[in-house]
Amino acid sequence: MKISFTKPGLPETGVLVVTGFDGGELSEAAKAIDKVLHGNLSRAAKVAKFKGKLGEMVSLLSPAGTKLERVLLIGAGKEKKIDLLAAEKLGGTIYMALAGKQPRTVTIAHDAIEEAQGRVWEQAAHLAFGALLRSFRFDKYRTKEESDQKPSIRALKIMTPSGGRARKAFDELSRVADGIFLTRNLVSEPANVLYPESFAQICTELSELGVEVDVLGEADMKKLKMGALLGVGQGSERESKLVTMRWNGLQGRGRKAQATQIAFVGKGVTFDSGGISIKPSGGMEDMKWDMGGAGTVAGLMKALAGRKAEINAVGVIGLVENMPDGKAQRPGDVVTSMSGQTIEVINTDAEGRLVLADALTYTQQNFEPKTMINLATLTGAMLVSLGQERAGVFANDEELADQLKVCGDDTGEKVWPFPMDAAYDELLKSQIADMKNTGGRYGGSISAAKFLQRFVTDTKWAHIDIAGMAWSNKDRPTIPKGGTGYGVRLLDRLVAKYYEA
Ligand code: BES
Ligand code: MN
Ligand code: ZN
Repeated sequence: MKISFTKPGLPETGVLVVTGFDGGELSEAAKAIDKVLHGNLSRAAKVAKFKGKLGEMVSLLSPAGTKLERVLLIGAGKEKKIDLLAAEKLGGTIYMALAGKQPRTVTIAHDAIEEAQGRVWEQAAHLAFGALLRSFRFDKYRTKEESDQKPSIRALKIMTPSGGRARKAFDELSRVADGIFLTRNLVSEPANVLYPESFAQICTELSELGVEVDVLGEADMKKLKMGALLGVGQGSERESKLVTMRWNGLQGRGRKAQATQIAFVGKGVTFDSGGISIKPSGGMEDMKWDMGGAGTVAGLMKALAGRKAEINAVGVIGLVENMPDGKAQRPGDVVTSMSGQTIEVINTDAEGRLVLADALTYTQQNFEPKTMINLATLTGAMLVSLGQERAGVFANDEELADQLKVCGDDTGEKVWPFPMDAAYDELLKSQIADMKNTGGRYGGSISAAKFLQRFVTDTKWAHIDIAGMAWSNKDRPTIPKGGTGYGVRLLDRLVAKYYEA
């Protein structure tokens, strides 16, 4: 789908989309079209009792005196409430409303609303961004789809008086979309196709954008004494990997250019069977997306490099498959992490924290980042507490937690802060080792975070538990059902707002 910005006017062919607002009033552009159509649009709106509610639709088919296939009037909700996120939702809703109707060219007459948030061209760019995000499909394994079931829109045109600026804003957003789509693709791939080695291979392709990619195998990790991570992969036929992705956007800018300002660390369990503490079979297929944290880190690095962010950032992902076999780790085993701390593995299904423990240590020892943020589909308890609407944030720094909250509200990828009292740490006491890997059912997301914190030295740190967010069971305005790409926008925004030069 080619997206472009054009000057306002009546398009000759295809589908024309216009908007109306709460109360049923047509936008200025819609009124102009209505005149050309001799009042047919406003009459249709009246007959259909159009109220202008977000997503409400009235169609006028092949209106007389034009060569248009259809004029679609769509509700945009309260006029003054159309902020950039609402514009995205509207773009996504329009895309979906038309995708099944087989048009090739769709033109959206976008009305710039002066009182609304964001400048005119930004509104147009975000409308396009929303449509682009909604157009994602993971259809590589569908070999029998009828052509009339495939999306047909080839060209999407957004009318706006400031096309040049809209284009520029959209180009930047579409680099972020590239990152989101990488994450969605990774999360959607089945575990027979995406395993540590093939995941690492995909990461190496980011070098085309100037990202330095480095892959460690099991022999390298043994030398580094990553006993916690390696223990998880021990029962799998697939070799565990640790991938580092560096984006040095400040290269060539003096001494400042050397330091890593921010590090992102991801849990990449390409399949989580639970190991010897095996999971029940119902729903186990979902555990193909237990690499969601790593998928987000890879997508984020693609977004940062794609838009040439002025920052030095590093992404580190621990890639393992958690399987039960004769060599697998047992409940009760004690492993020694790279940090030197020992862990009694009470439950082999609490594997994400073991992977992250060593990935966090590795990141701090090698890059000494000022800030470190890890992402993980870490606990089922997260779904119980926040559902599929917000991710949990667990931080050792209040300012960082607040910044994440702000960026979540800005991008719609919302988060909610959790407490980190020392009392939760008590739950991790082991009789025979420095700690055990589970703190029980109660407050399970928090004790998991406290476990991770034991591997954080004096770095500003936040852990984002995305167990409820990496995958969506339902279609949303800008997210089709499936892998969401959650976290790419959130952290791209954090970088842009608080870290870039
Ligand atoms: N990957 C799971 C958490 C998960 C569950 C993510 C459902 C997304 C959806 C994690 O490895 C896990 O199994 N956690 C256990 C921890 C427990 C054994 C302490 C859990 O949440 O039950
Ligand atoms: Mn598990
Ligand atoms: Zn897991």
